[in-house]
Amino acid sequence: MVPQIKIMLEELGVTGYAKERILELAEEVIEATYRYIENSPFRGTLKKAMLHLIGRGKLIRPIFSLLISRGLGAKKEPSIRLASAIEFSHIASLIHDDIIDNADYRRGVRSVHRIFGLEKAIVTGDAFILLSNYLTADLGEKIIKESLLAGLKMCIGEIEELEYQDTADLREYYNIIYNKTATFFEHIARASSILGGVSDLDVERFGEIGKNLGMAFQIRDDILDIYGKEDQLGKPIFQDRNRPNIIGILKRNNMSDDEALKYAEKLLWGRIWIAKDRLDMVPLDTWAKKVLDAVLNSIPSRFR
Ligand code: IPE
Ligand code: IPE
Ligand code: MG
Ligand code: MG
Repeated sequence: MVPQIKIMLEELGVTGYAKERILELAEEVIEATYRYIENSPFRGTLKKAMLHLIGRGKLIRPIFSLLISRGLGAKKEPSIRLASAIEFSHIASLIHDDIIDNADYRRGVRSVHRIFGLEKAIVTGDAFILLSNYLTADLGEKIIKESLLAGLKMCIGEIEELEYQDTADLREYYNIIYNKTATFFEHIARASSILGGVSDLDVERFGEIGKNLGMAFQIRDDILDIYGKEDQLGKPIFQDRNRPNIIGILKRNNMSDDEALKYAEKLLWGRIWIAKDRLDMVPLDTWAKKVLDAVLNSIPSRFR
């Protein structure tokens, strides 16, 4: 199986050292996430359903976590444990989100609820949340609290998104994507930097890198939802027709397609610059800074 992250890096034009390091980390995450489920008490259909989406995603969040924790010198075992827990909590949100959005496909395969049924998909999502917290519990109170906040705030975003549907304005859209996507990146960045033993001020800075990367990532995802190609995304475009999308909001403000895309790209760059600015300030090893910087630079590119 070609890891999805490899395809994404190629699309983004991330090459050389950054690409190699990211692919190494991806391999490590895939191996570890399999192992944690294999070594758990899960069995039968639950185990099958849990393995269904493993190793298939882009693994952006666990890789981001490892770049921070390892870039700060954290040890191998706790850092891969945290990264795996983050991926499990993310997978839980995907399984439940696909039920909410009535989505047929996820990560290039049928969604968990389409294969295993609604009832079992709900429980599978729950099992992932609990496994994530079980693994994180060993890492100390500060880290588990960050990890819990990541999930708790996402619940706010998912509910608010349902309530706004397609009537949101730009300010409301930002609020939704912040809670739905960016807070997750914010709190996993904070958790990973705590594992790396940095000062409170630097935990804040890592949080801001995560938040702005998360905003940029969701804006990109929404642009791709309109302009992307299905075979690259592993899910149909226009899947969530009713939910707020930056392009739709801008077009309701009388922008043409082209103007809306240009403006959305400009908003994306705003986020990237903040993240890059904070990245300059934090005490991360040069190799990890180099990789993160390459990723940040690549996000606002290649929509056409
Ligand atoms: C999907 O996240 C949900 C969003 C917040 C956009 P990803 O695009 O990172 O999904 P995977 O993990 O690669 O499948
Ligand atoms: C999923 O959001 C984000 C979560 C936080 C679960 P979307 O509904 O926008 O993402 P896709 O398009 O299903 O991946
Ligand atoms: Mg959704
Ligand atoms: Mg969805």
